[in-house]
Amino acid sequence: MLKWRGRPWEEGGFGSKLPKHRDTGKRRSAGMRPSASGGRPTFPPYRWEEGGTLGAFRERRGQRSRHSYWVQIPLGSARGRPRFARNGGLGAGVGGEGVAGEGEKREPRCEGRRGRAREAREEEGMDKVRLGMIGAGSMANHVHYPSLASFADVQMAAICDLDAGRLKATADKYGIEKRYSDYRRMVEEIAPDAVYAIGPPYVMYDVWVWCLQQKLNLYIEKPMGITLHQARMLAHLAEENGCITQVSFQRRTCPMVTMLREECLKRGPIVHAVCEFYKCAREAYLSAPSHMMDDGVHALDTLRWMCGGEVVEVQSLTKQVEVPDINFISAIVRFDNDAVGVVLSSWTSGRRVFRVEMHAPGICAEGEHEGKGYLYADGDTKGTEYDTREVAGSEEFHVFAGFEGKNREFIDCVKAGRQPGSSFSDAVKTMELAERILAQALLGGE
Ligand SMILES: NC(=O)c1ccc[n+]([C@@H]2O[C@H](COP(=O)([O-])OP(=O)(O)OC[C@H]3O[C@@H](n4cnc5c(N)ncnc54)[C@H](O)[C@@H]3O)[C@@H](O)[C@H]2O)c1
Repeated sequence: MLKWRGRPWEEGGFGSKLPKHRDTGKRRSAGMRPSASGGRPTFPPYRWEEGGTLGAFRERRGQRSRHSYWVQIPLGSARGRPRFARNGGLGAGVGGEGVAGEGEKREPRCEGRRGRAREAREEEGMDKVRLGMIGAGSMANHVHYPSLASFADVQMAAICDLDAGRLKATADKYGIEKRYSDYRRMVEEIAPDAVYAIGPPYVMYDVWVWCLQQKLNLYIEKPMGITLHQARMLAHLAEENGCITQVSFQRRTCPMVTMLREECLKRGPIVHAVCEFYKCAREAYLSAPSHMMDDGVHALDTLRWMCGGEVVEVQSLTKQVEVPDINFISAIVRFDNDAVGVVLSSWTSGRRVFRVEMHAPGICAEGEHEGKGYLYADGDTKGTEYDTREVAGSEEFHVFAGFEGKNREFIDCVKAGRQPGSSFSDAVKTMELAERILAQALLGGE
């Protein structure tokens, strides 16, 4: 059993005491990065700002005390837009240097399309990340394109869809002039800095493979393939071709839940975390991906993020309730930083719920990403209530649910030449955990 002392982001904190991998000699991940200032942990795409006081909440609850709270502001939002990272990011990448993540070294990239992307930017006199958009469907219109359209440093340079009606409607809505039905032609003609290919894996897998083979930076929706094989091939291609990649696990970037997690981490590492994901959908699931791959990966990925560290042990129990496919998943997961995660997911419940709990020494948080959150410390049973919209400072779903933050993270990483939190190399671990639970189910006769 591993015991950590100190805070993870402090010099000599538990991150520095993590065991070294027996083959690589590298220390294992603690799920945290060193803080930018003041002992307050800050993730690369964000900075912290004082969000105000909690007096309004507390007075409403009949309490007197007031204290300030902090919110994570995505860099590049109105309150914190970064400069273009000319020496380490796109500027370097288009000049033929690598796009390595922090501390990593990669082979130089070819000039070809990257060079043309730089030329295209210079010709148009813009200091913007130029994107090629594949897919004008539901998620693109609902959350991703609204997020991207709100960034001053992003240009949706062209759009592609096989469906002429959706293509026109979406292109008109976002004022995109260059429209295609062939994504290969679009990429060849506009030489984008990155591509969004938004759609389900059973129609997008071949598109994703082609993009990675062209050394394109790539943003996709979850799941990262229908099978672990597909996920591993995508991670392999991304690594081999030096692509900056992201799977849209937006529950890691919900402003309220990230704030609650940071409040817990101020007291020390996460001791245990819980993620529950329920729906009322009692019929057999006919979609190409299973319940596990479609929805279950969201709960597992959120659990991995809350706990940090690498999975070392999984004990699970699944059921098929009224249907022939697995529609109940429970698992207890131990991580190499000694955190324990519990996941409960059922599609045979009474309503839709996505709820989390995080516990650290003397403090705990609970909340629903799209609703309320609560923080309790030192035995106080009243706690402090938060509203996800108030913390995010927006009524827009794509903002308070975390999509804007996830998109911002990707754009900043493309500019800076580093990998985001849900890169393919990280997201494949969520797929591995999902398959491990399904393998236990199969061996157990489910
Ligand atoms: N992150 C979340 O919380 C969340 C929520 C819901 C759904 N999802 C995921 O989103 C995915 C579905 O995305 P969607 O709802 O936007 O899909 P969609 O089917 O609505 O849209 C996909 C679009 O891609 C187009 N398309 C397909 N093949 C193409 C090709 N070769 N070239 C150009 N266009 C092509 C289709 O015509 C369609 O318009 C699923 O994987 C689902 O699991 C994620």
